[in-house]
Amino acid sequence: MSKGLKYTGFSLFITCIAAMGGLLFGFNTSIISGALLFLAKDFELTTFQEELIVSTLLLGALFGALMGGVIADKIGRKKTLFLTLFLFFIGVFILAQASGFHALLLGRLISGLAVGIVSMAAPLYIAEMAPAEHRGALVSFNQLAITLGILMAYVVSYTFASEGAWRAMFAFGYILIGAQFVGLFFVPETPSWLFSHNKKEVAEHVLHKIRHAQAEKHLVDLGKHEDVPTKKDWKELLKTDMRKPFLIGIGVAVLQSVTGINTVIYYAPNIFQAAGFDTAHTALLATVLVGIVNVAVTIVSLWLIDRIGRKPLLIAGLIGMALSLVLLGVAFLGSGEAAGLISLVALQLYVAFFAVSLGPVAWVLIAEVYPLGIRGRAMGIATFANWASNYIVALTFLSLIREWGVVGTFWLYALICFFGLWFVIKLVPETKGKTFEQIQNYWKK
Ligand code: BGC
Repeated sequence: MSKGLKYTGFSLFITCIAAMGGLLFGFNTSIISGALLFLAKDFELTTFQEELIVSTLLLGALFGALMGGVIADKIGRKKTLFLTLFLFFIGVFILAQASGFHALLLGRLISGLAVGIVSMAAPLYIAEMAPAEHRGALVSFNQLAITLGILMAYVVSYTFASEGAWRAMFAFGYILIGAQFVGLFFVPETPSWLFSHNKKEVAEHVLHKIRHAQAEKHLVDLGKHEDVPTKKDWKELLKTDMRKPFLIGIGVAVLQSVTGINTVIYYAPNIFQAAGFDTAHTALLATVLVGIVNVAVTIVSLWLIDRIGRKPLLIAGLIGMALSLVLLGVAFLGSGEAAGLISLVALQLYVAFFAVSLGPVAWVLIAEVYPLGIRGRAMGIATFANWASNYIVALTFLSLIREWGVVGTFWLYALICFFGLWFVIKLVPETKGKTFEQIQNYWKK
């Protein structure tokens, strides 16, 4: 086997292990939609209690993301991944054993903390392990894992639905936790983190393992990070040359949520029923189709992101999402079979355009625009902004529909897509194929 192939093999292996964090993220955020139906019956939950159970995970994630950055900078990326597994385990344990509403809330909160931390720690780990020319695709593996986790949750819910076995739905999470736990023992800490914590020899050793002949060059690249602060300070984030990457990271993170993707991921069956799919069965099938389209197009994005680049994907994706949302609104203006069919097509198109643009690109960008010394915490803040806006969208979606109607709501998201387009064209630079060092030099200009 050639050196190049061997290197690619190990690199892919560590990426897959880290991306299992994405699998847990997707699974845990989506499994509730299936379980809730039965929980509500068993515990006689009110609608408000149901809403609380759904949204508490997002609240937990919001705090997890904020803490995750500091933790990842302090204890290292790999130990942070271990920590998330510990939290996932406790969360799943409490949920699968829950005997009432409060236990469910606690389980969702702890799972949420884990989701929040892993949503930044997994792409961070992968970005720091990846060579510049494949970084986009490798980080997008995590997005692929998120979409697979969502699809898995849809299928697991469907499988256990006939017996109403909601405890088994949650407990499926143990398998994913166990698999990543074993895998993590075989992956190293990232060279970037080791380097910034004065463990240069270990960093060199890891680089040789993952880069072979190119290790020297990469060590030199790491060494050129003169701006690695010895004392990690929040004030670093306020430096003049940090403002632009800071704004861009937060901007794309927020855009990912406020363009409405999770109204579809969390409420697809409701949307399909409103569009005229009269049985729960057909609405659920259409939802599974959403999950499949999401996975399939994300695979295409892995191929495109380091070839076409981040910016063209964002531009094309945002235009496509906006137009699909306009079409979705038009479908809701009509009625009957044709309207139902148009809404189905428009929704799948919308998900497809998201999956090839904002889905993977947002996580890739926020993992690569910040300098080494503050990367963890800066990413934590951007991820926090992602979850906070996600929380607001999830909380306001149903009220928006009540106040403005379905058409007005989707057209509002379309308008936000156009605003996002302006933001991307104006501010986001192309980072395809650039080393971390080249990206930092760009900000200094
Ligand atoms: C987003 C999630 C979303 C998922 C859908 C992720 O990148 O962060 O909020 O549910 O994509 O595939």
